[in-house]
This record gives sequence, structure tokens and C-alpha cells, in this order.
Amino acid sequence: MSLDIVILAAGQGTRMRSALPKVLHPVAGNSMLGHVIHSARQLQPQGIHVVIGHGAERVRERLAADDLNFVMQDKQLGTGHAVAQALPAISADTVLVLYGDVPLIEVETLERLLGKVNDQQLGLLTVTLDDPTGYGRIVRDDEGQVTAIVEHKDASEAQKAIKEGNTGILALPAARLAEWMGRLSNNNAQGEYYLTDVIAMAVSDGLAIATEQPYHPMEVQGANDRRQLAELERHYQFREAGRLMAQGVTLRDPARFDVRGQVTVGRDVLIDINVILEGTVIIEDNVQIGPNCVIKDTTLRTGAVVKANSHLDGAVMGEGSDAGPFARLRPGTVLDAKAHVGNFVELKNAHLGEGAKAGHLTYLGDAEIGARTNIGAGTITCNYDGANKFRTVLGEDVFIGSNSSLVAPVEIGSGATTGAGSTITQNVDAAQLAVGRARQRNIDGWKRPEKIKKS
Ligand code: UD1
Ligand code: CA
Repeated sequence: MSLDIVILAAGQGTRMRSALPKVLHPVAGNSMLGHVIHSARQLQPQGIHVVIGHGAERVRERLAADDLNFVMQDKQLGTGHAVAQALPAISADTVLVLYGDVPLIEVETLERLLGKVNDQQLGLLTVTLDDPTGYGRIVRDDEGQVTAIVEHKDASEAQKAIKEGNTGILALPAARLAEWMGRLSNNNAQGEYYLTDVIAMAVSDGLAIATEQPYHPMEVQGANDRRQLAELERHYQFREAGRLMAQGVTLRDPARFDVRGQVTVGRDVLIDINVILEGTVIIEDNVQIGPNCVIKDTTLRTGAVVKANSHLDGAVMGEGSDAGPFARLRPGTVLDAKAHVGNFVELKNAHLGEGAKAGHLTYLGDAEIGARTNIGAGTITCNYDGANKFRTVLGEDVFIGSNSSLVAPVEIGSGATTGAGSTITQNVDAAQLAVGRARQRNIDGWKRPEKIKKS
């Protein structure tokens, strides 16, 4: 079977009350349309055709990719008209229609649906709801065979009582599509060309309609307003939390945990409340993450510990290393095994060797720090002269006294020591002591100033 996928995304979404096109509104950090495209790609179709209209330029700009064919629908004359716009680009034998504002559809559900379609049969995804108001209703004959879809606004009272609704997602044989599209009319309550009318046409042409249902009704839920968007977000997060727990993660509270990207986890991982994982995050076995951490595009190796209120972006934490509370690891930070980063420490483009420590109130930027080197509290790498950035290179077993300024470019050899409060502007050789501060003077008989008495 060869497959073309058509994603309908031209609608306006007035109820979002937003300048942003509806399908660009985010769920879990990705646009709704982005989620649909992601699922579509997993089906490895020969083409993905995205029908755009409202906000078309912004949608195209945001999502442009080599494997996407954007199709313009200038006027939104209905779902049938939308699919017809993509018709000239379709060459596969099967067409799958998805909605750009129905982001949580599962690939497994689509695979089941595609299992039902062939040249004699359509696959239709339906959903049975307590309140199907607004949905097209699935009309079945006495034998239970689907004969038509009737839109809510065109339905009789008896048809409105049907609980089985049309999700809008369907798979059809492409060979018939052009002919059916040609037969659509807009003679209905909304004056639109309904894609749903192809069901009755297919039946009258002797094709069968096979239905499937999603595992969970939220898979086929669209977002028309921000409240529904929030419901989709919560459902997505609930699903992600469940997936991670199934793989061996303890979440202190699955309702206070957010994933906005792709997360890979090992076993016996512990994640406390209010943690946000963004981008690509890899978490190996026995990692612990404290409360209120934001962790983006980061790898946490076995046994790494991230303590409360830390912010990590583009970092690698080695085996058994720890950071925080209140640590900030910026892009290019690499902590080797057992390295320690304490509170109010910021690292950027910095490598801490095995067992190296920066315990308190420190900034290390563009720095190479050797194994077991200790960075005293309040140490700052002065890596920027206002125009250019320079590197600070420290050997192994170096001891940097507290409140030091390391003015880059500067190198300090292995085993060297710097006195507290030093401003280090010149290289220090291995094992030397460097002191770069004013010598202390003690003055005898010093009198403190006294308050001048007012007369
Ligand atoms: C549609 C279905 C209905 C189904 C419901 C599920 C039809 C006629 N009706 O109704 O049976 O129960 O979805 O939510 O198909 N779109 C375009 N161009 C258009 C019109 C729509 O791209 O000209 C897109 C919209 O952006 C949206 C999707 O198609 O993503 C569905 O459109 P919408 O107006 O929401 O359809 P409904 O009337 O809800
Ligand atoms: Ca709709």
C-alpha cells in the first residue's frame, strides 16, 4: 500500500481569540499541527499535503520542511473542498485525512484504521460520546452497516440521538477520490462542500465502510478554544507521565510534571514535583531530580543528582555528579563523573573534570577544569573583555582560593594554588602558589570616626 496523507489546517479558529493561527497553538511545546505532522511521518507516507488558508504564510514559515507539500485553500468552502485542493498532488493508492487541530491522534490508531482500507472499502474513525453535539453522526442500517454521515446541523431529531460521531479522520482508496470530489455539492445547512458526503457515495458505488475507534476519546479531540487546548495539554502530560512511570520512573506527583519534547529514561529514576523537561532529554538509571527544575536538551548519566530549583540547558552531567540547589548549567557544560556543582553556580561552555568541585557562588565560562580541582566560593572567570571571549584552563588538583578573579586567557598548571581574593592575570605553573592581591597592613592606634555632636 502506498500512502498520501492530507492534513486539513486551513480553518480560522476564531474562538482562540488570537493573532496566532489556530494550528500553531502549542501543546507540550510543539504546535498542534507539528504534533499531527510528527504522527503522519511515522506512517512513512510518500507524501504529506498540508492544506492551509488562514495564517497560511505563518504556518508555512514555522513548519516548512522538505517532506511537506503545502496546498493553498484560498476560501474555506468546507472539508471536501479542502481535500479537493490537494487532489492534484496525490499519486498513492490510499489517502489518509487528518486534522491539523486534532494533535493527540496515536500512530497505533491510524495503523489500525489503515488496516481497514482497500479498493473496495473505506476506513472511518468514529467515536462514541455521551454528548456528540456538533459532530457529524454515523448513520447505520439495520445490519449495522454505515450508510452515511449526517452533519449535526443537517440532522433530524432521531439522527441527533445517535451517540456515534465522526472524528473526521478517514482513509480512502485514491482511485475513487477524484470522481467523488466532483460529485460533492454544497446544498446543505452550512452551504459547504462536506467531505463526509463521500461516505454515502462510496456506499452507493458498492464499497463497504469499516469503522475503528480510538483507544481514548482525547485522541480525536480538537481544540477550538484555549480551554480545550488546556484539556489537551493535561491529557498529553498525563499520557507522558504514564509512559515514563511504566519505564521505571517515580514521579512524586504525575500532575505536577511537564514534558515538552522527547525524553528517554532509565530505571529507578526519581523526579520530584514541578519539573519541566524540554527538547531532547536523556536520563539514565538512578538519576534523581529535585523539585522545580527546568531541564532542556540535557543528558544525565547514571546516578546524577540535580537538586532543587536548578536550570539546565544543553548540559551533560556525568555519572554520580551533582548540581544545585539553584545551579545553572548553560549550553556546553560538561560535568565528568562525580563532579560537584553547588548553589548559585553558573557554568557555560565549561568542562569540569572527574571529581572537580565548584561549590558556591561561582561563574565558570569558557573554562577547562582538570580532575579533582577545587574552585573556591565566589570565583569568577573573567572570560569576556567586552569584545571577545577567552578561555581559562586549569590543570588537575588545582586549588582556587575563594573570591578569585581568573582573567582569561589564563592557564593554571596542575597542583597549583591561588590565594583567596586573588586577581589572576598571568599563567601559573604547576605546583606554584599565586597570590594576586594587596598585602594586608595592620595600623596601631587607629581611631574610628565619631559622630559630630549637634549643639
Ligand atoms: C467536521 C466534520 C464532522 C466531524 C467534525 C469532527 C465535515 C463536513 N464535518 O465538522 O462530521 O464530526 O469535523 O470535529 O467534514 N478545514 C479546512 N478547510 C475548510 C474547512 C475545514 O481546512 O474549508 C479544516 C479545519 O481547519 C479543521 C477541519 O478541517 O481542521 C475540520 O473543520 P471544522 O470546521 O472544524 O469541521 P466541523 O464542522 O467541526
Ligand atoms: Ca471542528
